[in-house]
Amino acid sequence: MSKDKLIIFDTTLRDGEQSPGASMTSDEKVRIAKALERMRVDVIEAGFPIASNGDFEAVKAVASVIKDSTVCGLARAKKIDIDRAGEAIKPANSGRIHTFIATSPIHMEQKLRLSPDQVLEQAVAAVRMAKKYTDDIEFSPEDAGRSEPDFLCRVIEAVIKEGATTINIPDTVGYNIPHQFGGLIKDLIERVPNSDQAIFSVHCHNDLGLAVANSLSSVLNGARQVECTVNGLGERAGNAALEEIVMAVRTRQDVFDCDTNLDSTQIMNCSRLVSGITGFAVQPNKAIVGANAFAHESGIHQDGVLKSRETYEIMRAQDVGWSANKIVLGKHSGRNAFKTRMAELDIVFDSEEELNEVFARFKDLADKKHDIFDEDLQALVTETSIELHNEPINLISLSVCSETGETPNARITLNVDGEEKQAQASGGGPVDAAFQAIEKIAESGVELLLYSVNNITTGTDSQGEVTVRLKHNGHIVNGQGADTDIVIASAKAYVNALNKMIARDQRTHPQQDKF
Ligand code: KIV
Ligand code: ZN
Repeated sequence: MSKDKLIIFDTTLRDGEQSPGASMTSDEKVRIAKALERMRVDVIEAGFPIASNGDFEAVKAVASVIKDSTVCGLARAKKIDIDRAGEAIKPANSGRIHTFIATSPIHMEQKLRLSPDQVLEQAVAAVRMAKKYTDDIEFSPEDAGRSEPDFLCRVIEAVIKEGATTINIPDTVGYNIPHQFGGLIKDLIERVPNSDQAIFSVHCHNDLGLAVANSLSSVLNGARQVECTVNGLGERAGNAALEEIVMAVRTRQDVFDCDTNLDSTQIMNCSRLVSGITGFAVQPNKAIVGANAFAHESGIHQDGVLKSRETYEIMRAQDVGWSANKIVLGKHSGRNAFKTRMAELDIVFDSEEELNEVFARFKDLADKKHDIFDEDLQALVTETSIELHNEPINLISLSVCSETGETPNARITLNVDGEEKQAQASGGGPVDAAFQAIEKIAESGVELLLYSVNNITTGTDSQGEVTVRLKHNGHIVNGQGADTDIVIASAKAYVNALNKMIARDQRTHPQQDKF
């Protein structure tokens, strides 16, 4: 008997971007969307077009380049949102509008100040308006996990009757428990008279660490679309992790009567790309994509795996794309080898200028570092796209003096809006001195919330990848920088964060209902 298809709806570019500091530029969203398309994600939620002009343009840009996946724009159940989402997805081969309104007593009373009947009316009207733009309409009763099932049934029946083709049940605040959430999905499918005319979907948040478990329980109870994000990125504790959902369903085909169409060998590539662009590092013990996910430390385990891999491994590392961690290029590799490996990694350059720039940087890196890995190449591309972006602040040079018994001192030259500026400062350590010197020029008044360094590969000649999180006027941004010299990587990350702060949009948040 052939199995049902489980639709993978990726919301890394929308709910993932709602993680504080994870905002992405339009170019970055397009890069991630291309990687998701290559991984054969069915639906890519590219953003919330009413939130800002930047979001609108990003959804439109994704809709213009993606051919094989459906591109979706989020809209509250309001005309202004739906019109904006409809415009943004117009260039798509296949476009979807995802509209939502809260249905839980607390949200209806406290946030919307609407009666249940008014909410139902607004939901139906929203679906009717969306039909002007596309036949592919998804409706979500926000905070469904805390809504009255009887009211949910009424709303769902009415929106399906109006033309909604996907009904997404969100556990917006991550409050649900697997057997209970799965039971809710079963109940809704059984009780809504026209439920056979729509696909039931789930969207789970991870506040209790149960997003994946709740999603899988729903799949066992009839859901045929799961909304998820790469690395589990997302609002607060995040969303269900795409890689965990996909690999659980694939690995336990004895339990699930459905499967996804995903090319799982692209998972690591997507994971690295998303963490590189957002600056949200993946914890080493993260399932599937953490550095230790396939590492065996104990002697007994190592011995077992050598004798028979299945003794301690339930999946093959290469099936999720881990085989990439090998030396790929070096000092003597030419432009052709470089271009070929980039193409194998599905990295496409927008222009010959960008290719030349990344190749020049690759040569510089190969002078400092003997073996170049795929991770190094990906970091080079991220760096170059940041710097070719014509940012207001650019790092020209940095010299740091750090000596036993002496106070570290940094001398920095920045280009600020086309003008070269220099400053010197001392600090508690070389990184602190470099940041103080940058601030002497920038005078940004930002607060440093986080500073972290990760090695991109192994060995002391590895590039350090630095993330800096800054806060100003209630807004949070993350900046990234990579270099074999971690003080320079730190300065690059700080400058990148300052540029993001300058460019930051005044966004409307989807769950806020005023603007
Ligand atoms: O968590 C949530 O309820 C959402 C909706 C917009 C689907 O993100
Ligand atoms: Zn959400």
